[in-house]
Amino acid sequence: MPLINLFEYEERAAEILNEARLGYYSSGARDQISLRNNRDAWETIHLLPHILVDVANRTTKTKILDTPISMPLIVSPTAMHKLAHPEGEVATARAVGKAGTIMILSTLSTVPVEEVAAAATGPIWFQLYIYKNSKDTERLITRATEAGCSAIVITVDAPVWDVREADSRNHFSLPEGMRLANLTGDMSSVAAQDSPASGLGANLNKYLSCSNTWDTIRDVQKMTDLPILLKGVLRTDDACRAAELGIKGIVISNHGGRQLDTAAPTMTRIAPIVEAVGDQVEVLVDGGVRRGTDVIKAIALGAKSVMVGRPILWGLTVDGSDGISHVLALLHEEIDTAMALCGCPSVDDIKADLLQLPHDFSGR
Ligand code: GLV
Repeated sequence: MPLINLFEYEERAAEILNEARLGYYSSGARDQISLRNNRDAWETIHLLPHILVDVANRTTKTKILDTPISMPLIVSPTAMHKLAHPEGEVATARAVGKAGTIMILSTLSTVPVEEVAAAATGPIWFQLYIYKNSKDTERLITRATEAGCSAIVITVDAPVWDVREADSRNHFSLPEGMRLANLTGDMSSVAAQDSPASGLGANLNKYLSCSNTWDTIRDVQKMTDLPILLKGVLRTDDACRAAELGIKGIVISNHGGRQLDTAAPTMTRIAPIVEAVGDQVEVLVDGGVRRGTDVIKAIALGAKSVMVGRPILWGLTVDGSDGISHVLALLHEEIDTAMALCGCPSVDDIKADLLQLPHDFSGR
């Protein structure tokens, strides 16, 4: 039976992956409260569709940072795609390009950025972790730029690595023959630990900087002419500070519930942040997006685009590049249908008046 939604992909992938790989991809931090709340939050908003609107000619196409995309949805950075499929990030790049949208490649890719970019048929943005040694950070930016990546997405919610308990239980490490291919030497290995700890946590807590400040972001700005986005913003004051610094985009994210547990559900942060920054920066959001109607809600709240992470890994696990193509096709169909049913022939027609927020039984 062909799979018909993202939840079915998740279930099928869970039957295929071993415990350690599934645990790594699916877990949130600690009690996994943010992980659950991210998803649940989308379901708390109700839609108030317009009726009797001509939607015969409609399009899901839009733009993000001047880049045309086939729908308001791009692919979040997720690490180590070879755990899902031997072709790893190359398979992902092919499928995402074919779907007409953007892939954000993780620093923690199992294929080097040069090989991913060479296989890509669409834009690739590079997700950057800032390393203790600024030469390592600069080297990553240079390689990503020379490979043809068109934006740098700095993750700012991980001064330290929080504990995903499944990874501790499973002593998560990378299997023989796999490494963090954008890095060299010990930085590229995710080795099993003697203590009950994740090999990834041990690696990142050792090499990533935990003393980054806004000055560090200024330093990174001096290293590149590419547009910079900050990923992991939840507060309006931080969003405004990013805008003042000339950051081009912010991603409202709690790292898929994988860092600070009980951090606010991302959906709840869109409206306040968009109101605070106006059109100075483009606002994206990730966390628990699984349905076309979630995408409509995000856009109606003021986001320019959503991002999806784990569903891409489930597609890759189930059927490689074709699995991701199918996951993106399902999302595209759901967005298109939801737009038609909401009376929105274009993404610009998706406005706040479509939303009935929790406990709002008034008006319209
Ligand atoms: C990588 O960024 C992870 O969350 O494991």
